[in-house]
Amino acid sequence: MAKVKTTYYCQNCGAQHAKWQGQCTACKEWNTLVEEVVEKNTKPSWEQAAGGDVTLSRKRTQKPQRISQIDATESPRLDTTNAEFNRVLGGGLVSGSVTLLGGEPGIGKSTLLLQLCLRLPYKTLYVSGEESAHQIKMRAERIEKNVDNCYILTETKTQNIFRQIADFEPQVLIIDSVQTLQTDHIESTAGSVSQIRECTGELIKFAKETGTPVLLIGHITKDGHIAGPKILEHMVDTVLQFEGDRNHTYRILRALKNRFGSTHEIGIYEMQGHGLREVSNPSELLISQRGNNLSGTAIAATMEGMRPLMIEVQALVSTAVYGTPQRSATGYNLKRLNMILAVLEKRAGFKLGQKDVFLNITGGITVDDPAIDLAVVVAILSSNFDIEISSQHCYSAEVGLGGEIRPVSRTDQRVNEAAKLGFDKIFIAPSKSKTNNTTIQAHGVSRIEELVKQLF
Ligand code: TYD
Ligand code: MG
Repeated sequence: MAKVKTTYYCQNCGAQHAKWQGQCTACKEWNTLVEEVVEKNTKPSWEQAAGGDVTLSRKRTQKPQRISQIDATESPRLDTTNAEFNRVLGGGLVSGSVTLLGGEPGIGKSTLLLQLCLRLPYKTLYVSGEESAHQIKMRAERIEKNVDNCYILTETKTQNIFRQIADFEPQVLIIDSVQTLQTDHIESTAGSVSQIRECTGELIKFAKETGTPVLLIGHITKDGHIAGPKILEHMVDTVLQFEGDRNHTYRILRALKNRFGSTHEIGIYEMQGHGLREVSNPSELLISQRGNNLSGTAIAATMEGMRPLMIEVQALVSTAVYGTPQRSATGYNLKRLNMILAVLEKRAGFKLGQKDVFLNITGGITVDDPAIDLAVVVAILSSNFDIEISSQHCYSAEVGLGGEIRPVSRTDQRVNEAAKLGFDKIFIAPSKSKTNNTTIQAHGVSRIEELVKQLF
């Protein structure tokens, strides 16, 4: 194999250098040089690897074709048999697509994809650079009794992987993880920016030319970004994030980017002793203490994507011991909490300036639906007065800076979900309070003061 020529480019100004150096001589920036391949053999790496002459049956050659003649039904989505995963992808795996799954260490990325792989009704190759075949087998046995459809390869060199693929012709390829991959074309160590980019490029080429869906696992850095260049996220078709609190058992799968579907959908899983369980009715699980009336607790009817989700909000208000009161929010935006406290102080006359306020969304999830505001207000006031509020009530509205209660989208769906879970009354903005649902009372309130009068 001919040696591939590489050179170093400055990521800041684009200047070219023959060898690595700490500072770019053109723009004087430090640590910006990255190795890149400048001259490659004309055959894609995945073909070269397999001896230069591949007759992979699904290999496509491209010719220009009229858009009206393209058969859009040609590549139907592959059903992953995992309803939550399908939903997040927008209806299944698109053939030839490359999906990147990111998440913190230990959150369950390998478990999720191995589980998927075990249950996929297709010939699937799971390539692992992180664990030995023995470790994977042990994990697989925890998840599934009968494992037959899935093939394991422990390899990190992309050329070797492609050689195996050419023989094996998998229908789905899973790589755990992209940071362990290494290509012969670049000398830098596995996990470096140029290795990650080059290896991903080779895999994308393979996916597009053969129509094989590829799933990649990617590690994320401390600040929550996928380790490696940001460009990686631009290169792939779909970026999924697996998140959740490691101390809680719930995990949320979210699409950050999706070329084939919406990014509003989420999938919810519960980590159990034998793998991840799909949570198809999350509301019941997220509400912990249904039936006990507790002060400082209110239930919000929120939406995650197209799915209504009932969420429990807990607040604790106590007298501040130090001069500066503490504010803390878990699962809710702290700035928004401060804003709500200011609204309560200014518009409804509550002296919360000398109080510590702690807010928690149960279940370890993070909510950014503004409809949760009203439940936050009720939880804070309930804790402040130490007056319990009925656990048969729920809340769904945004709170404005003027203390007005504002309508939110998809109110009907929220009301129906609340009715389905047996709530008696839902507090919403007045303009949306007409509903066809007769099993629940939809109660419109227009201002915070009015709500306070009714509840406390
Ligand atoms: P893992 O999938 O190895 O995480 P990642 O690949 O994202 O680093 O995460 C595994 C964690 O999940 C580990 O702490 C053990 C736990 N686990 C279960 O609770 N149940 C199971 O069935 C399996 C396989 C793992
Ligand atoms: Mg892993």
